[in-house]
Amino acid sequence: PFVLELARTGAAVTVPPGLSVLEAARRAGATALSSCEQGTCGTCETPVLAGVPDHRDSILADHERAAGDCLFPCVSRSCTDRLVLDL
Ligand code: FES
Repeated sequence: PFVLELARTGAAVTVPPGLSVLEAARRAGATALSSCEQGTCGTCETPVLAGVPDHRDSILADHERAAGDCLFPCVSRSCTDRLVLDL
């Protein structure tokens, strides 16, 4: 588990295994667009403000993965204990 922080509202929630970052953000009150929910369409792209994303999408190129400044929250998770998104 890791803590997801929503920068726009300051809300913080724990994301347990099995719950997507997207769903956790929505439960915390964020409005987040999505479509495929499988990491392939790009609709849910979200800027990362702090923390290191654990990318699980099929979209980003290696250098974009390494940059770690955005993620696809329908599938991706966090390598760090805390992940702050621009939501
Ligand atoms: Fe399609 Fe997240 S909803 S990549």
